[in-house]
Amino acid sequence: MARTATLTFEGKKIEFPVIEGSEGELGMDISKLRAQTGLITLDPAYGNTGACTSAITFIDGEKGILRYRGVPIEQLAEKSNFIETAFLLIFGHLPNQEEALRFRRRLTDNAHLHEDFKHHFQGFPTDAPPMAILSAMINTLACFEHKFLKIGDNESFEEAAASLISKVRTIAAYTYRKSRGLPYVYPDPNRRYVSNFLHMMFSRPYQDYHVDEDVEDALNMVLLLHADHEQNCSTSTVRMVGSADASLYSSAAAGVCALWGKLHGGANVEVLEMLEKIQTSGMSIEDFLKRVKDKSELLMGFGHRVYKNFDPRAKILKAACDKVLAKIGIKNEPMLDIARRLEEAALKDSYFVDRKLYPNVDFYSGIIMKAIGIPLNMFTVMFAIGRMPGWIAQWREQHADKSTRIARPRQIYTGPTLQDYVEPDKRA
Ligand code: CMC
Repeated sequence: MARTATLTFEGKKIEFPVIEGSEGELGMDISKLRAQTGLITLDPAYGNTGACTSAITFIDGEKGILRYRGVPIEQLAEKSNFIETAFLLIFGHLPNQEEALRFRRRLTDNAHLHEDFKHHFQGFPTDAPPMAILSAMINTLACFEHKFLKIGDNESFEEAAASLISKVRTIAAYTYRKSRGLPYVYPDPNRRYVSNFLHMMFSRPYQDYHVDEDVEDALNMVLLLHADHEQNCSTSTVRMVGSADASLYSSAAAGVCALWGKLHGGANVEVLEMLEKIQTSGMSIEDFLKRVKDKSELLMGFGHRVYKNFDPRAKILKAACDKVLAKIGIKNEPMLDIARRLEEAALKDSYFVDRKLYPNVDFYSGIIMKAIGIPLNMFTVMFAIGRMPGWIAQWREQHADKSTRIARPRQIYTGPTLQDYVEPDKRA
């Protein structure tokens, strides 16, 4: 029998259908709430609001579970790579050989930026924040790829997805080159996705950067772990913009803007700055945590809206840190030591235990990125490259859903009630 939830309001009982997800998650369908009761819900920051159904990513925050299309993140981190995982997220299954080959070819064919597009980089000051450039340039892509503004069949969607995943990497690398006053390096069709990114970042004319396989693997894993995270702030932004039937480009550009925030993707920069501050100031871990507990600081890289046990991505990255650093030949990374001591102290402290605050994905990702030579101001850009497949998958799912309507939350108005306009000479 279909389950319902009953709401009693002013003596009247109203029944609402209860929707059950494939993992047993329950939600009350209140889409008829206002029509039937005159009420709306008030849920600031949407902590209790499901804005859509989705078959892409499953999270159980209490148990620390994260799965892409049902596949545990731990298995993907061990066996897959970023591009295969991107395909899985967007198209719902792991690619067979032919699909994998076709998708890779599309990525390679779409790696180049139009020569005229490149001139846009010149307009930015050298010290422009890379996330601002990234978002502007993704929007600018719409001027060069008209054919993808209206996406029709699966074929053209795959082409558009490949173009965006490939070009976001080229744009990111060029953003860095611009900030250093270095010449742009063209994508190399013979390199894999991550290796090509490192090549465009660090090669110099007539002096190819040697891509260490361990570095490539580590970056692949970092990108893969960031690839989707259901209805987080930036993904909800992508869906919000997409619901107006805005293009994939403008929706993704909006996602970049949301991700930039320091409570979201920008946290990876803040974590490293925090560790550096603790190191250079000579402050003890205890003194720093005291400041956090009296709310003068946030412990960056800690806490999550959904994970109330542990963030499985942080667990993988923590374990990977030692391995990656050892492989790259870094014996003692002081930041890693501070991070470990911070985590250990916080996890014993009732302030963090009572609030269920655990390290999140950003706590250890910065240490790995720093070790493999990614500059600090590019950390959040790396998160954006990683999250692009998730945004594309969510945008696609939203557009395939016939019940999608423009997203339009309501409000409870708390301003003045009706009052007359006051002539300028009569104002106090
Ligand atoms: N340091 C200190 N106190 C914290 C922290 C933190 N990092 N996070 C939450 N709290 C406290 C918060 O002050 C509140 O305390 P009280 O009950 O005394 O008012 C309590 O814990 C509950 O927190 P909340 O503000 O209700 O949590 P939220 O779900 O609204 O926020 C968050 C989630 C991730 C924005 C927050 O934990 C935070 O600001 N963390 C630091 C930034 C960060 O690492 N962000 C990356 C998130 S993971 C990657 C991503 O999604 O981008």
